Amino acid sequence: MNVSEAVATRRSVRAFTDQPVDRAVLERVFEKAQRAPSGGNTQPWHGLVLTGEPLQRLIARIALDLPRGREAFAPEYRVYPPELDGAYEERRRGIGEEMYGALRIPREDKPARLAWFARNFQAFGAPVLMLVHTPRYMGPPQWSDIGGWLQTIMLLLREEGLDSCPQEAWAVYAPQIREVVAIPEDHIFFCGLSIGYRDPRAPVNAFPVPRAPLGESIRWRGFGGKSCAGRNFLARWRLLTRH
Ligand SMILES: Cc1cc2nc3c(=O)[nH]c(=O)nc-3n(C[C@H](O)[C@H](O)[C@H](O)COP(=O)(O)O)c2cc1C
Repeated sequence: MNVSEAVATRRSVRAFTDQPVDRAVLERVFEKAQRAPSGGNTQPWHGLVLTGEPLQRLIARIALDLPRGREAFAPEYRVYPPELDGAYEERRRGIGEEMYGALRIPREDKPARLAWFARNFQAFGAPVLMLVHTPRYMGPPQWSDIGGWLQTIMLLLREEGLDSCPQEAWAVYAPQIREVVAIPEDHIFFCGLSIGYRDPRAPVNAFPVPRAPLGESIRWRGFGGKSCAGRNFLARWRLLTRH
């Protein structure tokens, strides 16, 4: 698998088979991902990788608080800025609608939507969950380093035939997570990363996840001329990313 294939076939997988994942495979991935770049080579990422009984204990602890709804939420950072609007807010809502559409859960069916949201806290059935944390004093540049590290891991997982789902949702239960596993007090809990083998039959793993046209993200100066990407490239890329 080359890098383009890894990028094209990675998606947030939300239904996994129960096939266990070898520690040796994960060690290979994490060892390689240590090559991810970071400002000043600070490497501010920390992960706690759970499987088996420790993961089940965490899932059981969160299940106790699910019926309390938002009252039980206590994230250590704001997952989305309150100002989020325009295209950003539209994309956020859009992906939810795409997903619930694939699951055939209508907007009015709040209990079904909540039940699906709760699948986050079963790691979507994945056999492995990594909990990601970093010292509390780290700022946006170091958080962005962690993002690059996570993407490196997610792409390397594809090379091993594995899939993943990054999950900020776990952040709402930071205190409950701390009850079950040791995360240093002077570290902030960022997110989970579910890891496992994709269930290829699950519709939730098959809906199209749109992306903004390039012009909304990238501006050019000094290149002259028009787009060089070419129709052939775009057609092939769209085919590759339609999974
Ligand atoms: C840091 C981060 C946190 C995320 N948290 C969640 C989450 O809690 N639950 C979830 O279902 N998806 C989560 N996602 C997945 C995004 O919804 C997904 O990346 C986005 O919709 C693009 O889809 P794709 O990853 O399938 O390409 C998260 C993604 C990132 C990068």
